[in-house]
Amino acid sequence: MGQPITVTVNGDKKTAEVEPRLLLVHFLRETLRLTGTHIGCDTTHCGACTVLVEGTPVKSCTMLAVQADGQQVTTVEALAAGGTLHPIQAAFKQEHGLQCGFCTPGISSRRSRAPPLR
Ligand code: FES
Repeated sequence: MGQPITVTVNGDKKTAEVEPRLLLVHFLRETLRLTGTHIGCDTTHCGACTVLVEGTPVKSCTMLAVQADGQQVTTVEALAAGGTLHPIQAAFKQEHGLQCGFCTPGISSRRSRAPPLR
C-alpha cells in the first residue's frame, strides 16, 4: 500500500503514492523521470545522487521519498536557468572538469551551494 506524498521538485508540485521504503533517488528517476540524478554506488559514498533538499545538499540514495514530503527538492535539471549554465556548470565546462561525466550532476548540485570558483 502506497503513501501519498507531495514534493515540490524544481519548482513544480508533484504528488504521488509511493512505497514507504522507496528511496528519493528512485522517486526522482523512476516516478518523475528526472534521470539527471545518477546512482553511482551502493554504499552512500560517491555523491552522484546529490540533490538539494530545502537548499541543503543531500545524497538522495540515503533519504526516503516519504521524508521529502512537503519539501522543496532541486535536481541538476534546474541548475541551468533559461538556457544559461549555472556558474559551477560553466566552470566545469571551461576547465574541462568532467572526467567521464557520470557523477557531474551530483557534484554540480553539491557545489552549486558553494561560493563561485575563482
Ligand atoms: Fe553513491 Fe548515492 S549513489 S552516494
